[in-house]
Amino acid sequence: MCQIKVNGGRPLQGALTVQGSKNAALPILAASILHEGVSVLHNCPRISDVNTMIQILESLGCSVRWERDALIIDASGVSRCQIERECAAKMRSSVLLLGALLGRFGECKISYPGGCVIGKRPIDLHLRGLSALGVAFREESGDVYGKGRPRGGYFCLPFCSVGATENLLLAAVCAKGVTVLQGCAREPEIQALCSFLSAMGADIRRVSADGIAVFGQAPLHDTEYTIPTDRIVAGTYALAAAGTRGNVKLYGISRTDLAGQLDLLEQMGVQLSFKKDCMEVDARRGICALPLVRTCPYPGFPTDLQSQMMAVLCTALGVSRIQETVFENRFGTVQELIRMGADIQVQGDCAWITGTEMLQAARVCARDLRGGAALLIAGLEAVGETVVDGLSYIERGYEDVCRDFRLLGADVSKGKDNGG
Ligand code: UD1
Repeated sequence: MCQIKVNGGRPLQGALTVQGSKNAALPILAASILHEGVSVLHNCPRISDVNTMIQILESLGCSVRWERDALIIDASGVSRCQIERECAAKMRSSVLLLGALLGRFGECKISYPGGCVIGKRPIDLHLRGLSALGVAFREESGDVYGKGRPRGGYFCLPFCSVGATENLLLAAVCAKGVTVLQGCAREPEIQALCSFLSAMGADIRRVSADGIAVFGQAPLHDTEYTIPTDRIVAGTYALAAAGTRGNVKLYGISRTDLAGQLDLLEQMGVQLSFKKDCMEVDARRGICALPLVRTCPYPGFPTDLQSQMMAVLCTALGVSRIQETVFENRFGTVQELIRMGADIQVQGDCAWITGTEMLQAARVCARDLRGGAALLIAGLEAVGETVVDGLSYIERGYEDVCRDFRLLGADVSKGKDNGG
């Protein structure tokens, strides 16, 4: 098993440019198959989830190649509308191909999607929404078959699911007539998908804060698009600076990208300043506990930063409370943090964290992507050598976490468990 060794106990100090966004890139890659032509994506992150999505696109008949940081996708040869079971099992975002394949072919077959184990993660909203656009579904031994060309319609999402909003947008672009979606997720990655689809020729209009209208079947054409910066990766490095009482500069990021995160960092005592596309994070004066961190859909505090925030609060003076409202199984890293000396009590969807002066280095194991990032932060806080197993989870979303933490002055290295 691949692992990361962290020699922690010193403040981070340095600067880096934050990578492109995973959660923006994945739906945009799925969207590229809507058009029988070429999409060029700049700033696409080189992470394993993107590689998995590329494999899926290739299995459908796309030709995909990298040219420096640009990913070039030619979807003119797409001929298949089935996603193989192994591909779907690797990554939840494979479900986004439902909307895209139905849009292009009026037909698709996909297995129930996999991904990090952070809750039940059903796809009922995706299927209900697509059914409202005229698609008929049947399920058979773990596979979902969809049939019917989407047509314009109305759907109100009872919960603002990010993935369901994206799937409906993808299907609506090729639907005959106008589709009105209400209760849509408002994450910046939804905006990025709409910008990409519009750049491709789609006619998409925001009709209210959570309402989007799509005028279907606008002619699509080749396009070039730059994937925005990853706000979760930026938040991870900002929190790592807070956890180590460091001072770092993160480039490529703006205030609005980080809505929901900044108030809490400041409340903790971290000083933030912005100049053009650079955010300086200064935690050298120390940090204090937070009475309540509640994860919420955008613009609330992102669930994807909850574990990293917990790792920081483990050494913040006082008692903090975290409430997880988005996923029901996202305290999977608590036991590992406790092994490092953290004082955490979990009851239902809440965790109480009593700050201790210092964490202890230990051998711990990542079980999901963001939990893995949290353990790296805990390792940076602890004096001595922490070994984090399960690097493959971290590589799903972080391009090269060792390179980045080294730019911030950390002593980290990749290794292989040789059983010793
Ligand atoms: C996306 C993000 C993920 C992030 C999450 C919430 C990507 C690739 N992933 O995941 O990093 O943590 O948004 O911000 O963009 N739900 C249902 N039925 C459905 C769909 C969702 O009950 O059909 C529930 C889920 O179980 C979960 C909640 O809704 O409890 C949020 O899920 P959703 O917003 O759909 O997240 P994802 O799109 O899977």
